[in-house]
Amino acid sequence: MYVCLCNALTDRDVRAHGAGEGCSVAMVYRALGCEPQCGKCVPYVRQLLRSAPMPAAGVEVGGDD
Ligand code: FES
Repeated sequence: MYVCLCNALTDRDVRAHGAGEGCSVAMVYRALGCEPQCGKCVPYVRQLLRSAPMPAAGVEVGGDD
């Protein structure tokens, strides 16, 4: 599901790049090579980082199953 329309980021992108304690929203955007534009997604991305289970290391992202 898209969580950031400005940068076309999905919840999978966020989870894949948000693994690890102390990871901030800004760190996720930086890791994905973009930055918030309108900022509407920031609260949702933050919530995802806090609540979503992170994938195991080595999980490949970006492909459509
Ligand atoms: S929806 Fe993410 S910056 Fe606009």
